[in-house]
Amino acid sequence: MKVPFVDLKAQYQSIREEINSAIQNVLDSTSFILGKSVADFERAFAVMHNVKYCYGTSSGTDGNHLCLWAIGTQPGDEIIIPANTFIATVWGATLCGAKPVFIDCHLSGYNIDPSNLVKAITNKTKAIVAVHLYGQPADIEDINVQLSILNFESENTGVFKHKKTGQVIYLVEDCAQSHMAEYKGQRVGGLSYASSFSFYPGKNLGAYGEAGAVCTNDEFLADKFKIMRDHGSQQKYTHITYGHNYRMEGIQGAVLSVKLKYLNKWIEMRRKAAKLYYDMLSNIEQIVLPKEMEYARHVYHLYVIRVKSGREKRDSLLKYLSEKEISTGLHYPIPCHLQPCFSHLGYKKGDFLNSETLAEQGISLPMYPELKNEQIYYVCDMIKNFLS
Ligand SMILES: Cc1ncc(COP(=O)(O)O)c(C=O)c1O
Repeated sequence: MKVPFVDLKAQYQSIREEINSAIQNVLDSTSFILGKSVADFERAFAVMHNVKYCYGTSSGTDGNHLCLWAIGTQPGDEIIIPANTFIATVWGATLCGAKPVFIDCHLSGYNIDPSNLVKAITNKTKAIVAVHLYGQPADIEDINVQLSILNFESENTGVFKHKKTGQVIYLVEDCAQSHMAEYKGQRVGGLSYASSFSFYPGKNLGAYGEAGAVCTNDEFLADKFKIMRDHGSQQKYTHITYGHNYRMEGIQGAVLSVKLKYLNKWIEMRRKAAKLYYDMLSNIEQIVLPKEMEYARHVYHLYVIRVKSGREKRDSLLKYLSEKEISTGLHYPIPCHLQPCFSHLGYKKGDFLNSETLAEQGISLPMYPELKNEQIYYVCDMIKNFLS
């Protein structure tokens, strides 16, 4: 039996007529960049995430950059980022000329471990990027607690001010993998000062091309987002600030609006698939399954298991599954601090043991809403065959 890692065709077939007609409307209107379809999507997406402002962007990577750029990040600043994330989170910092400062993740939820903040924060820290990786929210309250230990106070806005020095640190969310995930009943995206989303086709909410979004509850920042994503311009021919072309395409807005209506249903289907994986695999000693934290509604963008004995066995399992026509993924086999492009930062193997463990042991199983029970049984049977 063939089990793909994701199946974009199955989803398209289920909503084909609606999608085709939404795209046709954009073609008829020739509103190819921004326009009504994007504005409609932005409004609906903001409502669903309980944030005041949302602006569509050209990608999640561009959204990462826009968030840090719009808060004024510049050379000399430090941005704290979990070592276990996709590299795009880090480009947000480097494109501003800032220095990424990596910290380790938890081995339970796989997100930023806030207890590491105390030694990572300096008087140059400008922002902390909390990535809600694999679909599970980071522990936002614990980040607040750690900042308050260091004498930073906030009025629940994601902006933290040091009581004595006045230094300001912004909390930023990277929600690329976590649309509609919840932290203590609150949706991600509005738990910080600025957040970014990706609509890369394979994401839980995926466009039919490149697309992303930035969100905030702050009116001042929202204006900056709107202006900076469009060449720093509010009025044609006048550029009041630096900017770039980070606009969303009309067709992507139209596709995303159609798909947004199904998002909750698709997440429930992912959660069911995750439960079935759990029921089938939870008694296997040699592996560790993802754990939904007690504070979280996990949206299972990825279902990452760990092979306890390490890289060699993990790689053999990967090969075995591939021979059985099961596609898997690695998220991520080289943690950010060990990427060659950051060698000048002086990190070394052993600096962030949890991220390194995950890189050596992790394997992402097929996960998408349309995944059939029989396919999950087959994947689990093959894992059991291999490990027994
Ligand atoms: C955690 C994370 N951040 C940012 C991005 C970048 O998103 P995009 O591919 O839309 O640029 C991704 C995409 O894979 C991601 O997983």
